[in-house]
Amino acid sequence: DMKSLAGKVSECRRCSLSKSRTNTVFGAGDPRSGVVFVGEAPGREEDLSGLPFVGRAGKLLDKILDAIDFSREEVYIANILKCRPPDNRDPREDEVAACEPFLQKQLELMQPEVICALGRVAAQTLLRTRSSLSRMRGKIHYYNGVKLIATYHPAALLRNPHFKRPAWEDMKLLRAIYDGSGD
Ligand code: URA
Repeated sequence: DMKSLAGKVSECRRCSLSKSRTNTVFGAGDPRSGVVFVGEAPGREEDLSGLPFVGRAGKLLDKILDAIDFSREEVYIANILKCRPPDNRDPREDEVAACEPFLQKQLELMQPEVICALGRVAAQTLLRTRSSLSRMRGKIHYYNGVKLIATYHPAALLRNPHFKRPAWEDMKLLRAIYDGSGD
């Protein structure tokens, strides 16, 4: 179950990020939720706290959730990588390969109605493509039979306000899929 998986992650030594981490960041929220948000990797504040999306991008994620009437407690939030890459560099291919089975298992245990990939790294990893985020966003994809939408990472929204309007369209689509799923 989720608890024993979290225990395994906390002791993981599958890649070198285990040497530089303070804490693993397994995921948080309601594991029985119908909606899962998947980010890239922990940043500094997440590494220090062991919780996903607690920094600046996390505060914006809270606002985005609120705008579509979700609370942090009723969704589930996780990342592709469970450990922080030094200086928040992009995850390496070998790190993603080492860590991905953990997220796969989380999603398999949860069987959500819909997954929301936050940013290019999450979308490319889950959809097994090198496509750009602008091409992936705005439509329904499937991850092992589960509906998936991709949208801009909250950190990207902080850097580029032009992404806000399409991100809002994506969030309305996410909410519609969830509402239509007969939750
Ligand atoms: N950015 C991410 O992708 N994930 C986090 O948990 C925090 C910031």
